[in-house]
Amino acid sequence: MDSIQLMVDEHVYIKRMLAVLRKYSYRLLNGEQVDFEDFYKMIDFVRNYADKHHHGKEEDFLFNRMVENQGSAAEKLVKNGMLVEHDLGRLHMQELEEAIERVKAGDDESKLDVIANAVSYTHLLHRHIDKEDAVVYKFAQNGLSKEVMDQIDAQCESFEKDATAQGIQDKYIKLLEELENK
Ligand SMILES: [Fe+2]
Ligand SMILES: [Fe+2]
Repeated sequence: MDSIQLMVDEHVYIKRMLAVLRKYSYRLLNGEQVDFEDFYKMIDFVRNYADKHHHGKEEDFLFNRMVENQGSAAEKLVKNGMLVEHDLGRLHMQELEEAIERVKAGDDESKLDVIANAVSYTHLLHRHIDKEDAVVYKFAQNGLSKEVMDQIDAQCESFEKDATAQGIQDKYIKLLEELENK
């Protein structure tokens, strides 16, 4: 398995969900009726596909190998860049969830915080993904030995097999398509 290509392909699905987040935010801005259950589905996708399934592989199999093997430039790139951005994304999702709760409880003004956190997350992730595709993954491919890359590929392959057995990829791609068509 080419684990880097797999991660690049996963970015495409994640970017499609970013477009959904923006679409729903614009509807809210225009005062349209929005089913907040759909926002929970987006949060579910972000937490379990973008974060657990995708960032999980980056953090547990790739980034740590880069820090171990590629010196201080890699350490800075990963620890001050990628990991901080993963965490900031988690904060946006938490604040998005809290804002939705407030709107559902009757606080109309909190729609602002729903839009702000959803759209900020899309900006963050677009930049993050572009950086990984253009810089971080290439830095890894150019700098890691074949032996280390083979190990990353093997770990990703086994992770993917487990996830497939649990139906993770199918579930979240179906959820994405459902929201794209709404
Ligand atoms: Fe990442
Ligand atoms: Fe990524």
